[in-house]
Amino acid sequence: MRILAIETSCDETAIALVEAKGGLGFSAGSGPKFKILKNLVASQIKIHRPFGGVVPNLAKREHLKNLPILFKKLQITNYQLQRIDLIAVTVGPGLEPCLWAGINFAKHLYADLCGYKRGLAREKEIKLIGVNHLEGHLYSFLLKQKTVNSKFRIQNLELFPVIALIISGGHTILLLMKDLTHYKKLGETRDDAVGEAFDKVARLLDLPYPGGPEIEKFSLSLSKGEKLIPFPRPMINQKNYDLSFSGLKTAVLYYLRDQQPKVKSYKLKANVSASFQQAAFDVLISKTLRAAEEFKAKSIIISGGVAANKTLQKQFKFKIKNSKLKIVFLAPSKNLCVDNAAMIAVAGYINYLRKKKRKLAANGNLGL
Ligand code: KG4
Ligand code: ZN
Repeated sequence: MRILAIETSCDETAIALVEAKGGLGFSAGSGPKFKILKNLVASQIKIHRPFGGVVPNLAKREHLKNLPILFKKLQITNYQLQRIDLIAVTVGPGLEPCLWAGINFAKHLYADLCGYKRGLAREKEIKLIGVNHLEGHLYSFLLKQKTVNSKFRIQNLELFPVIALIISGGHTILLLMKDLTHYKKLGETRDDAVGEAFDKVARLLDLPYPGGPEIEKFSLSLSKGEKLIPFPRPMINQKNYDLSFSGLKTAVLYYLRDQQPKVKSYKLKANVSASFQQAAFDVLISKTLRAAEEFKAKSIIISGGVAANKTLQKQFKFKIKNSKLKIVFLAPSKNLCVDNAAMIAVAGYINYLRKKKRKLAANGNLGL
């Protein structure tokens, strides 16, 4: 099956062409397999940077401008056009004006392709399916062909039960997946998403938007042996799986307010970045590992923009290795952690197999 996917939920306009095969069962080498043919993203970072965050109407305008440009860039031949079986488009959560830009584009494309296929007297029908952006992140690990240190395809590994951690700019959710289609939320943030906290702390440090990659960069330049600031680890000892990051951000705010002299030196930025990042990661790793232990998970899978952080990936691997847990750790590659349309194709394919229908209308607050 050939899938054309469209993602416009926030500030990245993305279109992908993905080939999919296989069913939902995940054992002995079977399971859905994907091949990314094209995965294009038009980033709006430069446009939103002066505002320190995403401006919804500017984002919508850019999506409307970028969608036809990206579609053209796919360089789909008429032959390839005939072979598209499914159009998948994000319907939520996200910024509603932005979501509508993608949905309307998908609807027009669908109508055009239906007419085109009818003209060619093609029997096989094309389908249009709405996708939950969070399911896109959740299933993005399926785009990974091989695990980091093994020659095995992920379909050959025993992954379930999975503890999945979605960490993005809008969400922080811990889930238990019994199999590909049965998942249950164990906990989520009670206030800010972890990516949002990265962005806000970056702003406090006069670092540009998006803050995550900047904080990661500054953390890496911390001098050896320098002591970290003991920022709080909110809710780390609470027995539930909820999280909280707004208190941590406020602790950074107070620390900077009380600094003398007031100049934010490079050294100070590096120390605050590394200390904040470590506090956030300690909580994420501790709660995820505790869930893995309680639910006897065979794997931990992280996804979303914050999952692109190499220090976080390294610390997860280290902590798992040094625990008594015998589990696989998976994180998508960097370009598949941050928003992209290939993951929307994957979630679209899974929903298609499940015959799950979603309303083709923007839903900014759509949950999992
Ligand atoms: O998944 P994503 O691209 O979009 C949403 O669905 O929100 O995540 C974006 C978030 C931003 O808050 C950004 O600062 C954060 O992911 N991020 C990072 C890194 N790269 C992106 N956070 C920490 N370290 C990174 N390397
Ligand atoms: Zn996202």
